[in-house]
Amino acid sequence: MTTKKKPWDGRFKESTDRLVEEFTASIHYDRRLYRHDIEGSIAHCKMLAKQKIISAADEKTIVQGLTDVLADIEEGTFDFSIEDEDIHMAVERSLISRVGDVGGKLHAGRSRNDQVCLDIRLYLRNEVKTIIELLRRLKSSFLAMAKAEIGVIMPGYTHMQKAQPVLLSHYLLAYWEMFNRDEARFEECYKRINIMPLGSAALAGTGIPLDRAYVAELLQFPDITKNSMDAVADRDFIAEFIFAASLLMMHMSRFCEEMVIWSTEEVGFVEISDSYTTGSSIMPQKKNPDVAELIRGKTGRIYGNLVSILTILKALPMTYNRDLQEDKEPLFDTVDTLAGCLSVLSGMTEKITFKREKMLNEAKRGFSTATDIAEYLVMNGVPFRDAHEIVGRLVSYCIENAKTLESLTIEEFKRFYDGFADDVFERVDVERSVNARNIPGGTSQEMVMRRIKEIG
Ligand code: ARG
Repeated sequence: MTTKKKPWDGRFKESTDRLVEEFTASIHYDRRLYRHDIEGSIAHCKMLAKQKIISAADEKTIVQGLTDVLADIEEGTFDFSIEDEDIHMAVERSLISRVGDVGGKLHAGRSRNDQVCLDIRLYLRNEVKTIIELLRRLKSSFLAMAKAEIGVIMPGYTHMQKAQPVLLSHYLLAYWEMFNRDEARFEECYKRINIMPLGSAALAGTGIPLDRAYVAELLQFPDITKNSMDAVADRDFIAEFIFAASLLMMHMSRFCEEMVIWSTEEVGFVEISDSYTTGSSIMPQKKNPDVAELIRGKTGRIYGNLVSILTILKALPMTYNRDLQEDKEPLFDTVDTLAGCLSVLSGMTEKITFKREKMLNEAKRGFSTATDIAEYLVMNGVPFRDAHEIVGRLVSYCIENAKTLESLTIEEFKRFYDGFADDVFERVDVERSVNARNIPGGTSQEMVMRRIKEIG
């Protein structure tokens, strides 16, 4: 049983089952597109009048009607009902109920198949701009941290084992580079979103002489789609957006994972501010890095959305199929989740404190300058493989005798290789070690400062 008339009633003898109405409706989530739907319809209407497909008087009536629908929705007085199925039909029905039959002229040369594509493209190009703005704030925060922490030495890791000392700023700028590429991916993706599909109609284009370029101009699209079948069938621009979002989430998640580990008492490299942590309902001493954990967890949601859209598209025969309606929930969820994570991570990093002394002390432990000693030998003519072996034995000796490289005497050094001289002691120093990596892309203070200047 259903109450409202459908646009396709002419062909049907029975009305839509209530269960089917509920099952096929998307109005509860695609209502988010109302502004874009109306904006697109106004542009389409103006073009129909310019092409003399409708009269100037009809144009005026329809544009006014659509403006009133918009006002109603914004004021919260619009009656959304699943009988309207989706936002396109809801707006059209409301228009016709206001202005009468003339409202029925609006859909000339248009199908919901190209209309929904237009709405999503209008919506998403806006959202991508917002995401890029939020991402720029996050990049600024990482750059500011890199500037503030310049000179601070931390242990660098591979396999989560202490590897070589690096500048904390170098570590922070590594994330800046990742976020910078993420931004470039969104900018690229924007270009492919920003194309006007109207005029493709259901799949084949239309016999009504529309002026597609004029609609594109009104809606500020630099180009129009080139193939009507492609335009209504593909959602690759959505998949691309969610992929770019997935990579960005992955980058944020890796950083967050480190903040979770670094804020443990055992590591103690960082203090996350009280305002970006939460307490425990039972353990009074606890201060938990929930914000970082949630960003890490929400990364899984976004990956899920990517798999959803890719799977929806896989094996879809040309052209439009109703499966495509399932594109919106993963998209909207990605936009909301990503924007939230970007804002909260910017806030968290703007207030974070690094425990400089603890980092330096840890960088000094664990033979992190062993490679420097091997490089010292190489510069003294020892083949690298032999140097590696010599220093390996030296480290093993230190471990067995509970010594550090700093505490060794020159006699002890010489026991492993006769050519060691007093200048080897300089190589054991972590600051010297960091500044020795004075190669483009390396961790020396000079190179890191150079990069800060370039980007900042
Ligand atoms: N709500 C639909 C969607 O999101 C709009 C297009 C419906 N087209 C159709 N032929 N049923 O995809």
